[in-house]
Amino acid sequence: MAMNQLPRVKHPNLVLLGPPGAGKGTQAVRLAQDLGVPQLSTGDIFRNAIARDTPMGRAAKGYMDQGQLVPDPVVIGVVEEALGRPEVSAGFILDGFPRTVPQAEALERILAAQGQSLLRAILLVVPEAAVVERIAGRRTCGSCQATYHVIHAPPKKAGICDRCGGMLIQRSDEMPEAVAARLAVYHRQTEPLVSWYQQRDLLTRVDGMGPPEAVAARLRNAAAL
Ligand code: AP5
Repeated sequence: MAMNQLPRVKHPNLVLLGPPGAGKGTQAVRLAQDLGVPQLSTGDIFRNAIARDTPMGRAAKGYMDQGQLVPDPVVIGVVEEALGRPEVSAGFILDGFPRTVPQAEALERILAAQGQSLLRAILLVVPEAAVVERIAGRRTCGSCQATYHVIHAPPKKAGICDRCGGMLIQRSDEMPEAVAARLAVYHRQTEPLVSWYQQRDLLTRVDGMGPPEAVAARLRNAAAL
């Protein structure tokens, strides 16, 4: 076990919730490394499908560019397939799923069919002004999807990915109109999950402000519950 790995919790099946730009992707990658389990990002799965110009990618692109959610049956099918893979059997960090109550119900059903359950749903709490600033400054590697921020997490060489040397780009859903639509969709369709998980005693709130390392330390504590 690596020095910074956490002691293994049985099936650390975790969901990261939070508004667009809250830092879910940034933190999911770190937490997955710490726990030694895969990170599953539905946004990354769709962006990969778009880059490969698959039928699913072509279907998802219109929704994503407008800041709308990809329809539940498509997303649920993608996640059901991903959760059936052997590498996920020891646990996972879900980033960007569920985003609607039907998706949360489907996750409960998929896990129950595998004799598993969710350990925690962790909500990253970040004020709206901060998420808008984070999205405006985000740059994403067009090859490996690593994320940077022009001020808070700049690459060593401007415009170039530290990890793979790929070109850094702005996502097509980072235009101000798409960001406003994504925030409205979050409040309308995803925020109800906060009380949904609270009612099931599965919700943990984590302050998402401050340096990424400080947020990561809070998340490690929350995940070790
Ligand atoms: P998705 O890719 O999931 O986007 P999102 O949830 O809107 O979240 P983001 O990726 O924008 O932000 P994040 O919270 O991961 O923040 P990040 O770590 O990058 O989904 C995109 C689209 O796909 C959706 O709109 C929808 O169309 C579709 N989709 C995906 N899942 C779906 C589902 N389940 N159902 C239906 N449709 C679905 O950080 C943001 C920036 O801030 C970065 O630049 C980062 O470097 C910086 N940063 C991070 N942490 C800090 C910090 N502590 N301090 C300062 N800066 C920080």
